[in-house]
Amino acid sequence: MTGSQTAQMDELASTKVWGNPVNVIYNEDCFTLMARMPDESVQLILTDPPYGIRYQNNFTSEKLPYLIGDDGIDYLTFAQQSYRVLQNNAHAYFFTRFDKYPYHYQCLVQAGFAVKNCMVIEKGQGGNTGDLYGGYANNCEWIIFCHKGRQVFQKTKLLKNTKYNGKPYCRNRNAIPEYKTRFNCCWFGSDYPKSTYNSAWRLKQGFKHPTMKNAECLAWLIQISSKPGDIVFDPFMGSGSTAVAAVQTGRAYLGSEIDVLHYQLAQQRISSVRENI
Ligand SMILES: C[S@@+](CC[C@H](N)C(=O)[O-])C[C@H]1O[C@@H](n2cnc3c(N)ncnc32)[C@H](O)[C@@H]1O
Repeated sequence: MTGSQTAQMDELASTKVWGNPVNVIYNEDCFTLMARMPDESVQLILTDPPYGIRYQNNFTSEKLPYLIGDDGIDYLTFAQQSYRVLQNNAHAYFFTRFDKYPYHYQCLVQAGFAVKNCMVIEKGQGGNTGDLYGGYANNCEWIIFCHKGRQVFQKTKLLKNTKYNGKPYCRNRNAIPEYKTRFNCCWFGSDYPKSTYNSAWRLKQGFKHPTMKNAECLAWLIQISSKPGDIVFDPFMGSGSTAVAAVQTGRAYLGSEIDVLHYQLAQQRISSVRENI
């Protein structure tokens, strides 16, 4: 970040213009938005920043554009601002990639987060980048799961306990609950939602965002890590998947998207989800 950008952020942070907005996506740079946000103003962060890999799939029939920011963002400042705006005793999820994980991990720890897991979630399509004769297909998504302070998982009805019988299975132990209250960090197989939409299906729907996440997968993470009415913050909204998942689960959303076309797609998706609730 240049000196003038830092000065601009300090100036914005010092002007108290925050009116507790909710259910808003700003079509602006998230660094500008976060500089305006007060400390501890959101209850969950769930975000998918550009990984800094300058990715463009050469194998699909229709080439999708490069993402803004995919030549690298100031990840340390982003991590520090994320930590500051997140409420204490709350969770944060950051999508990442295997080769960016070490640096992202280091920045998040430096910002103050306790990194609890790196989740690995099956993609809705096989990976198809690079030389698949000499490298494995990337068929999963990595997500760094962090705590600020400590918060236990919410009780949900997402997964039934297979051994459920309502009785203690051993003396002095609690009865097995009907629904799971503990989760694996690798989500593979038919019990779990996939992390991304199948790309052919996505293009058929007219969703021209190259890295769209599956709102159902995000809705699971939101239900595990927040309460109804909480604000879910995504500074890199893309096509608005986090906002869609927040609406579907009765949470509020807040975020930004710098690219006007992606921003408009997000607004369309949110309106159509609201109409169908
Ligand atoms: C990996 S994509 C997120 C995709 C999203 N999870 C979805 O399901 O559509 C990252 C998004 O961040 C946006 N972006 C990049 N730099 C940004 C910035 N400084 N502020 C806000 N948005 C930014 C890009 O335009 C892109 O749409």
